Order: sequence, then C-alpha cells, then structure tokens
Amino acid sequence: MKALEYADKNFDNFVQVLIELLKIPSVSAQSEHKDDMHKCAKFMVDKLRWMGLEPKIFETPGHPVVYAEYINNPDAPTVLIYGHYDVQPVDPLELWEYPPFDPKIVEDRIYARGSADDKGQIMIHAAAIESYLKTEGSVPINFKIIFEGEEEIQSAHLDDFLEEHKDMLKCDLAVISDTAMFGRDLPALTVSLRGIAIAEMKVVGPNRDLHSGSYGGAVPNPIHELCKLIAQLHDDDYRVTVPGFYDDVIDVADWEREESKKLPFDEKAYLLEVGSKGLIGERGYTTLERKSARPTLEINGIYGGYSGEGTKTIIPSWAGAKITMRLVPKQDPIKICGLLQRYLTELAPEWVDVQVTTSGGAKPGMVTRDNPMMQAAADAIQEGFGKEPLYTREGGSIPIVNVFKEILGVDTILFGFAQPDSNEHSPNEWFDLRDFRRGINSTIHLYKKLAEMKV
Ligand code: BES
Ligand code: MN
Ligand code: MN
Repeated sequence: MKALEYADKNFDNFVQVLIELLKIPSVSAQSEHKDDMHKCAKFMVDKLRWMGLEPKIFETPGHPVVYAEYINNPDAPTVLIYGHYDVQPVDPLELWEYPPFDPKIVEDRIYARGSADDKGQIMIHAAAIESYLKTEGSVPINFKIIFEGEEEIQSAHLDDFLEEHKDMLKCDLAVISDTAMFGRDLPALTVSLRGIAIAEMKVVGPNRDLHSGSYGGAVPNPIHELCKLIAQLHDDDYRVTVPGFYDDVIDVADWEREESKKLPFDEKAYLLEVGSKGLIGERGYTTLERKSARPTLEINGIYGGYSGEGTKTIIPSWAGAKITMRLVPKQDPIKICGLLQRYLTELAPEWVDVQVTTSGGAKPGMVTRDNPMMQAAADAIQEGFGKEPLYTREGGSIPIVNVFKEILGVDTILFGFAQPDSNEHSPNEWFDLRDFRRGINSTIHLYKKLAEMKV
C-alpha cells in the first residue's frame, strides 16, 4: 500500500510535527493557559488544512473544538475520529527530568506532557490520513474529526456541542485512540472504561484559625473530623461503605474472570513499577479486576491548616478533601454523588459543619465486542503489530464514549497505543515512538478494513 510506504518514509516528519504540538502548553484546567488552548487548536487546524482538509474551529463557552470532515465514498462507513489536545497540569515541576513542554527524544521514547495523553495518539490519525491523501489522493473511509480541548476537565461543553450539531456529526461509529496497550509489544483493544463521579467535602469548625495551646482540647479540629469521615468511607475489606454504592454494579462475568486470568499480567512487575510497599484492594478480586472492573472511591487531595515551613500551632478553621469515584456498568454518576452526599451528611458530627458538593461525572463506557467493526480493528492491529490484540478493561475514563452512544447512537472502538506506565498525568510522561509507528500503520490498515465493511 502506498500509504504505508509514505508513512514509513515520512516518519521523522510526523515526529517533528508532534514535537511542535507538544511544545504548546495546552493545560485546560488552568486559566493562564487560555491563549495556549487557542494556539494549539490553531496548530491542529493549520496541519489539517495543509493535509488537504477544510478544518474549522468551533468556539464553546470553554476551549475550542477542532472539527474537520471528509465525505468521499457513499458506500464506505463514516467514522467519527475523536481525540483531545488538552493536557493535564505539570506539577510537581521539579520531578520532571526534562521540561514538560520541551520534548526530548531518549532512545525510543519521546518525553513531554501530552505525549501519550493524547497528542501522540491524535497525531497517529493525522499521520494516517495524511499518508492516504498525499499518495492516493483519497482516504478509503468517510470521517469526521473532533479534537476537543476539554477532555481532562470532564468534556464540560462537548455534550452541548454534540447535541447542537447532531446532524453534522451523523456517523456509523467512533474511533478513539486515547487508551493504553497491555504492555510492551502487547497491543490491546479496550472493551470497557470506568465512569467517574466527582465530589468535594468541606468541614468547617471555628470562625478563624485558633492558637492550639489556648483552644486545643476544647474546640473541634476540622482536619481531625475530616479524617474521621474519610476513614469511614472504606471497611476493612477495602469495600466502599457508602450505602447503595454497589447496588447497580454488574459483577464481572465468570467467563470474563477466566479470560482475564490468561492476560499476561505480572503483579510483581506492577508492584515494582508503582514503587509501593504492597498492594491492597477489595477482598475477593484480583489486582487487575480491582483496577479496571470494580468501582472505587479515592481521596485525590486534602487541604487545610498549615503545611508550610516550620511549625504553626493552630486549630485550623476549616479543611477539605477532593473525592472521585470510579464507576462500572450500570452505576450512574449523579445517583452515586447523591448517595455519597447523603452518607457523609449522616455521618457528620453536629459540632462541625460538613458541606458536600458534587459535580456529576461520566458514565462508564462499554464496547460491544461482537460488533463486526471490532474484528476490523483486531485485523488492523494484527497487520500493524504482527500480533493479535488482547481484550482489556481500562480503569480510566473517557467521558464522551457513553455520550456518543446516547446522543449519536454509535459504538466506539478504543484503538489506543500508550503504554500503561507512560506516566499519564504524572511527571515524565512519555510515548514510545515504536508504538507511534506501529499505531500509524495499524490505523492505515483500520481505515482500509472499515471501508471494506459495507454499511
Ligand atoms: N486518556 C485518559 C483515560 C485513560 C487513562 C485511558 C488511562 C486509558 C488509560 C483520559 O485523558 C483521562 O485522563 N480521563 C480522565 C477523565 C476525567 C478527568 C473526567 C480520567 O480518567 O481521570
Ligand atoms: Mn486522554
Ligand atoms: Mn488524561
């Protein structure tokens, strides 16, 4: 195939473009980067235009959506290609070996914030499309590209965008490259993503910070009360104690448990990679199940009081915690938020004020495995990697997957090429350039195989 030859010859150019893209600090969560979001969207638009497409920027109340469509063959399916150009914040900056927005290639890896999540992966699709357009003059499928700038902040405005442009976005399926392989040389098709429910708790005590000598012992300490509340959220079996939390959970099917035991998961290597002294989790489930097929509750951060240099002897006036829960089918984020809110309010002692705010979240995303498109994806991976993909559940969330189903009525193929330890959201994020190359090749094959499926 000419497209494959082109991709091979132009690989270094693809890497160069990726480097330029990675230099733009498109951190969606931080308002100081608002202009960078536009700069990044503009960069993508220029690239797509250079390839021969007619991209557009859609402004939203938040960050812009980059959109392009290509309709050329009435017999071929129309594929919605989704990715996100926004990245996570970089702190703690001092732990980065190389500056996060000054990409460095070391051996086969490119290090930069967003390299794996998700700029490297959106460039896979741009490269595959370019390879077709610059050789055959056409791409075998029809496609509609959405590169959004708010995935890392819950795709805050994308639901409205989909609703508003439902007709424009009509398609047969969605493809997203924003997940990970199972490990080195172990390509995977992800068959489920967890959902997420987001909450925050504040505990308010005295009307100001108080001298801990004069008042300590008599006045409630909001940090102590917060910690007591947090400690009551799990039992000794590491199950979440929120009443009703597990009510709607679909347990892992026996066949799937058996199948997942065959995955080449190396628990010792996993423990070493995370650098923790040990692993814990819900009794009765394996590590793999705990981190992908079971729901969880996590404290993401606690704040309050004095944590600066030296000593400041106070009873703080207030304390807070950020909480997220990972959800599995059929849990609903709104319902789960409500359950947590009710439970914490019940547990709250009367001598402090406990406020729980929630901000919804995302439903879990499931891929129908027996969808014939999945076979096309598996065949494409086989071509690109010389290996069959593994079928895996992913613990992370991509909020829009479920919304694609609800608003556009389409299934999604999760066609991702990051490594599980590529430091997404952590310092020293990296993307393996060999996976970049094989991802591009697989994607070139995917478009061809999808085009061969009549719709
Ligand atoms: N690409 C990730 C999701 C992911 C993580 C897939 C790990 C596979 C492996 C995505 O960008 C992400 O980080 N999602 C957030 C969503 C949240 C902010 C609503 C997540 O999972 O925390
Ligand atoms: Mn991502
Ligand atoms: Mn992410």
